[in-house]
Amino acid sequence: MYRLCFVCLGNICRSPTAEGIMVTLVEEAGLASKIRVDSAGTSAWHVGEPADQRSRDCAERRGVRLPSISRQFVVEDFERFHYVLAMDRDNRVDLRALASDPVAEDRIHLLRSFDTASKHEPDVPDPYYAGDAGFDRVFDICAAACRGLLDHVVERHGLGA
Ligand code: 4NP
Repeated sequence: MYRLCFVCLGNICRSPTAEGIMVTLVEEAGLASKIRVDSAGTSAWHVGEPADQRSRDCAERRGVRLPSISRQFVVEDFERFHYVLAMDRDNRVDLRALASDPVAEDRIHLLRSFDTASKHEPDVPDPYYAGDAGFDRVFDICAAACRGLLDHVVERHGLGA
């Protein structure tokens, strides 16, 4: 069983979007028994809240549900999750500050590093104060990166056959 945790600032926009997309991709690939997906925030600002309505509306239009409830990332998550996917470089700074050993630090990746078409665009932009178009863009970016991430996990851990 491989566990993935997507992490952004509030855990109400970007990381729930990536989580919902990844759950859908994993189910479509028939890998739900081998890959588990979760998300969390580096802040506690929105703990207990559902995903932002704008993220949920945007995802729903693409056939993806976002059922996650915001929680804060905790240091123990580095033991539970094999991949900790930061949405942007600020999130990665915050995660690295929490990581207490090299094993934990090795588990932190920028989500977009798995999208081979976006090598020079490291961040999933924060849509919170942006208009609706920002949410569509976040969805597209997360969808492309999650496909790349799934391919990577399948290949790296021999889940293909
Ligand atoms: P997220 O977006 O990190 O993608 O969930 C944000 C949500 C809330 C805030 C900022 C970003 N905020 O400032 O409350």
